[in-house]
Amino acid sequence: MTPNPRNILVLHGPNLNLLGSREPDVYGTTSLTEINARLQELAATRNATLRIVQSNHEGALIDALHEARTWAQGVLINPGALTHTSIALRDAISAVALPCVEVHLSNIYRREPFRRHSYISGVAVGVISGFGWRSYVLGLLALLDWLDEH
Ligand code: DQA
Repeated sequence: MTPNPRNILVLHGPNLNLLGSREPDVYGTTSLTEINARLQELAATRNATLRIVQSNHEGALIDALHEARTWAQGVLINPGALTHTSIALRDAISAVALPCVEVHLSNIYRREPFRRHSYISGVAVGVISGFGWRSYVLGLLALLDWLDEH
């Protein structure tokens, strides 16, 4: 059976454009381009269309969320450091009321104490953290399965 068509916004927050060369011992050597390609491959098998946005600017991420109200059914987000600081990003996720899966390459719960709190988790359907680039793939799978059931 062909799954329902889905439009998904994929948001990458600050500094994730540097993946591959940024602290590879923490974040791995896979580039953002490679991660996006893996997500596109998965999306194709699930009849999903992705719009992928990376920004180093909080406001641009919030604008992308607002726009997604008109076309997306769900959001996959790695908010980067905004995870730990941004009430505005959390409010935007609440405001658009789209199901959102939060992902992190690293396990934020075994790093510095300031990374252990996420403003985003409280408005996310769920969180996947610690599996490197696979966190994104697992997150997209989880989001698409969740959408199929709701
Ligand atoms: C991150 C974890 C954050 O604490 C950090 O600021 C990032 C990346 C991750 O994917 O592991 O930029 O979201």
